[in-house]
Amino acid sequence: MNLLTQLRSLFEPALTALASDKAKVPDYLGAIKPSSNADHGDYQANMAMAMANRAAGQKPPDVAKAIIAALPANDMLEAPTVAGPGFINLRLKSEFLAKAIQRIATDPKLGVEPAAKPKTFVIDLSGPNVAKPLHVGHLRSTIIGDALVRILRFLGHTVVGDNHLGDWGLQFGILIYGYKNHCDAAAFAADPVRELARLYVTIKKQFKKDDDEEEGPTDDPLKKACQEETAKLHAGDAENVALWKTFMPACLEMLRPIYERLDVKIDHALGESFYNPMLPGIVEDMLANKIAFESKGAVVIPNAKGNIPQTEEEQGKEDPPAIIRKRDGAFTYTTTDLATIKHRAETWKPDAMLYVVGAPQALHFKTIFAQAKRWGYDSVEFQHIQFGSMLNTERKKISTSGDNAPELELLLNDAASHGLKRYHESVADRRGHGHEVPDLEAAEVSRIAETIGVGAVKYADLSQNRTTDYVFDLDKMTATTGNTATYVQYAYARTAGILRDSGVDVAELRSSPPVVSLAEPQERALALQLLRFPEAVEAATADYSPHLITAYLWDTAKAFSVFYDKCHVLKAATPELKDSRLLLVDLVGRVIKQALDLLGIETVERM
Ligand code: ARG
Repeated sequence: MNLLTQLRSLFEPALTALASDKAKVPDYLGAIKPSSNADHGDYQANMAMAMANRAAGQKPPDVAKAIIAALPANDMLEAPTVAGPGFINLRLKSEFLAKAIQRIATDPKLGVEPAAKPKTFVIDLSGPNVAKPLHVGHLRSTIIGDALVRILRFLGHTVVGDNHLGDWGLQFGILIYGYKNHCDAAAFAADPVRELARLYVTIKKQFKKDDDEEEGPTDDPLKKACQEETAKLHAGDAENVALWKTFMPACLEMLRPIYERLDVKIDHALGESFYNPMLPGIVEDMLANKIAFESKGAVVIPNAKGNIPQTEEEQGKEDPPAIIRKRDGAFTYTTTDLATIKHRAETWKPDAMLYVVGAPQALHFKTIFAQAKRWGYDSVEFQHIQFGSMLNTERKKISTSGDNAPELELLLNDAASHGLKRYHESVADRRGHGHEVPDLEAAEVSRIAETIGVGAVKYADLSQNRTTDYVFDLDKMTATTGNTATYVQYAYARTAGILRDSGVDVAELRSSPPVVSLAEPQERALALQLLRFPEAVEAATADYSPHLITAYLWDTAKAFSVFYDKCHVLKAATPELKDSRLLLVDLVGRVIKQALDLLGIETVERM
């Protein structure tokens, strides 16, 4: 039950009959949009200007009138009006909205229909470099990726989540070097996770520059020693491989509690090491198929344009090629990612592969996507779902490896303390207003604090247009007004409180919904907002933008607050009106809970 889709089907025959160029009908249908100003109706249809342009001698307002006259009889719309240069203003009939509300009340998916053509997606998310403590910089890929997994699954797509762990790079050289030279054996025996974390930090601190991601030549003897350990590992050196195998479980154990706390489950974790045995074959195959070429002793793939610029001058004008086998025979991040594409394509046969990775890797993905298509994966939709950086409150970039990055665990603890503070404030505030607020058990209070804290962190991340940088500021993230999880979670808890106080049988309310009255403008506006949930979910998938769901949640919480200020629920004038309003309240709660769940954010019944 998508209102926009319904409107478009209503218009389609009229537009097809009137358009001089039938091929343009989909564009014209795309010009039906929600009104930006409620005074102009609920939706606007703005195709008359474009249609008049194509048919010489016609005036847009006349075209608009002709479209209105050609609309089939329906019980959806009030009589449309023409405004300005030819806008058609559309207002839905309140009876239509009221019936639609009754229908979504009985629908567990709240009006969201499964995708007409379900697809298979592989989503590459999280991808931390294991072997070092997790930092806040790894959060974005995990949170955005998890939201996309949930949203696409909700729409009925098959989604495979894959965590491309960095489990084969220099960070293991650092650990191996640290273990061989500085390990406290007793500490390692007692708690390998902690000892490895200590070793990593100790060695890393002694590097001349903070660049553990960088694999290139170095004049830092310590870093060089670590690079040599990495090279020995890659070459199959027995001692280093054995150490790697000993370290891996401890490294994964560092991640586990964080994923649990974030409630993120990723189907697979095929890290870089998994692809290592395949790399020589990948390079040979790409050479044989003339996708890759020898260049100055190395093997490279061309840039996305298909060129291999040689001279500096040429390279100044376009992207460089990417190395897949270095002169010394070593393979690269690019080689591994090409092996990954082949493996994913053969294993899951996906229609699309989405990579939720920071913006700095844009060139890498542009190049490998273009060459993977030439290599035979041309029917796959490849998408780099980029995101900007997280900034600290001084607006400095929080790096994934730098000293200014607080460890994720500490940060989540801090978020939960903010949550606890908000809860106590809310209790005091409600008591101050004369409400009776029960004292909850300590365990429930800490669950509420955790839900507010973790929810705030996720929501703040998702509510940005994902390509912009954003400031990590827990005070703002847990603000009780504005576009925050806390505000939306409050709205949910308030709906739960009203339903509790009403004593209504919620199951019954949903299975046989009462007649809905939308006589008050605040009731009508709330109903319309609830019916637009499917639109929000679809918009969020069209451009893989979860912030369209947070924007929807904020609007819904605001519409609920306006409604609740103006319309008595428990003290409504008649029992029928009370039931009608309780149904709206219950739907607000259900829609908020479902939409937050699509973002991996939980709710609590009291806060
Ligand atoms: N481990 C990588 C990093 O931290 C991210 C992995 C992204 N996924 C991929 N298939 N390259 O930069």
